[in-house]
Amino acid sequence: VHAAVVRSFDHPPRYEEHSPPEATGADEEVVEVLAAALHPRVRSTADGTHYESTGELPLIPGIDGVGRTANGETVYFVLPDTLMGSMAERAVIDRRRCAVLPRDVDPVSIAAAMNPAMSAWIALRQRIVFQPGQSVLVLGATGNAGQMAVQIAKHLGASHVIAAGRDRERLAGLESVGADRTVVLGGDDPERTAAALGVAAADANVDVVLDYLWGTAAALAIPAILERRPDRGRPLDWIEIGSMTGLELTVRSEWLRAARLQIVGSGQGSVSTREIVAELPALATHITSGGYAINAAMTPLSDVEQAWRMSSGSTRRVVFVP
Ligand SMILES: NC(=O)c1ccc[n+]([C@@H]2O[C@H](COP(=O)([O-])OP(=O)(O)OC[C@H]3O[C@@H](n4cnc5c(N)ncnc54)[C@H](OP(=O)(O)O)[C@@H]3O)[C@@H](O)[C@H]2O)c1
Repeated sequence: VHAAVVRSFDHPPRYEEHSPPEATGADEEVVEVLAAALHPRVRSTADGTHYESTGELPLIPGIDGVGRTANGETVYFVLPDTLMGSMAERAVIDRRRCAVLPRDVDPVSIAAAMNPAMSAWIALRQRIVFQPGQSVLVLGATGNAGQMAVQIAKHLGASHVIAAGRDRERLAGLESVGADRTVVLGGDDPERTAAALGVAAADANVDVVLDYLWGTAAALAIPAILERRPDRGRPLDWIEIGSMTGLELTVRSEWLRAARLQIVGSGQGSVSTREIVAELPALATHITSGGYAINAAMTPLSDVEQAWRMSSGSTRRVVFVP
């Protein structure tokens, strides 16, 4: 079969011939891959920087995708940690880690949307007790996951959603899909930006932060929000999901003592595979029911090497079609 193959962590995958994958376990099955997306998680596996990375090579990247089974079903699947990822003409899936999709669904849109959508969906459903009527701040709202997070928070019943991010145009676009208020991050005066974020959070009495940035952005945002909190005894659930502005953050003791800040993370590990898999059918149904603006760039898998280089930092989610 043809596949994208990583032979070195400092070089993008190349389109090559590879031996076909074989199903061995009772729940395994070979599918024809229809679409597999280049999520940040896939990139970090392919360059060896993800926290789950084992350092083994060669590998076929791709953590999920949409495929067609031998009996003609279209399924969204999530792969276990494997060297035989989804960026290939065929992949071995585990029936217990997939959701059957309607036949007429667009595989490219689903492959693009499920991983970014899952981040907020799982954080709000599995990592805290989220109550309809609570208010949510999405920190880093202009990426694929952040844009989905705004819409999903609203769908799950958030009364008020603040979208904070760098890109003014995309922030403005979020106002028509659920953001009640936007805050522009970045600029020359980070303290002023943080203060604006603190004011917006105080006005909304924010209950939950979905944080895709962490690092330097969270270091400014947390004290700015806590200082202005109208009731510091009111719980503030800070869910760390991504780390676009740094893997590290120094947590000051007073943040945790002087306000009811509760920091948790959401991702592979803090949410078990069983819990993630249990959410797939509901999320797949929700996404296929439409309504989401999905920004996918359909790309032939044979162009993987070039697309890998070009798409770094791009906002359109690259989806490979074998
Ligand atoms: N834990 C989970 O379950 C889970 C699931 C999916 C994703 N994630 C993580 O979530 C993060 C975002 O994923 P994604 O799919 O949305 O990626 P993406 O589409 O590439 O978006 C990344 C976003 O980060 C923003 N960004 C980068 N540097 C920034 C800075 N200095 N200040 C403000 N914003 C900055 C970019 O903003 P601009 O628009 O201004 O360039 C871009 O919008 C990644 O870290 C990913 O690994 C986690």
